[in-house]
Amino acid sequence: MKTLIVNASPRPKGNTAALIEALKEALNGEVIELSAFRSDIAPCIDCRACWTTARCIVRDEMDVIYGDDFDNVVVASPVYFCTLPGKMLSLMSRMQPWHVATFFLKKPLVLKKKKAAVILTAGGKGNASGANHHLRAFFRMLNAEGWAEHTVVSPSTDTIPAWEDEQAMAGVREMALWLNGDESQGA
Ligand SMILES: Cc1cc2nc3c(=O)[nH]c(=O)nc-3n(C[C@H](O)[C@H](O)[C@H](O)COP(=O)(O)O)c2cc1C
Repeated sequence: MKTLIVNASPRPKGNTAALIEALKEALNGEVIELSAFRSDIAPCIDCRACWTTARCIVRDEMDVIYGDDFDNVVVASPVYFCTLPGKMLSLMSRMQPWHVATFFLKKPLVLKKKKAAVILTAGGKGNASGANHHLRAFFRMLNAEGWAEHTVVSPSTDTIPAWEDEQAMAGVREMALWLNGDESQGA
């Protein structure tokens, strides 16, 4: 089993990182962590090469996602302005070949079915409505399901850091059980 964790926080010892660590401790199999901030993933520049090939011509760490060789995908992110940080949106923009294949070329990419889960941390001054909107599109493109039932939020990190948020810490451990394939943890 291979799990891809996309980390959208710029803070190596922050709230999101603490929940990722707890998740990793409970996960079986191989874990690949991709940092939206520390990787060199470029944004889509609408060069339109994918309009003929359904492939992106830019080679960078986005190849981890394009390779489609993972069973689970987890997005772990702080909430910024009620949505995801810009670097994460930038990474998501590189899913444009999927859009092109599906809607322009009418030859949808055949991607492995995956489990999806989400970890969000928020200071407490806003909601995550925008984040959910983008996550829905991202997971649809990746053929990944289950995130609506498997989202863990640490909602008040300004006052309770995620590592002291017992509900969130327990939530990621449960998430790991589901990702590990323990069917008693629900669909
Ligand atoms: C630019 C920026 C925008 C933010 N916007 C929100 C927001 O809209 N709602 C909210 O609840 N918290 C917001 N926060 C607070 C972060 O979501 C919160 O501190 C988070 O736990 C940071 O996670 P990290 O320590 O893993 O990076 C914002 C923080 C920053 C730096």
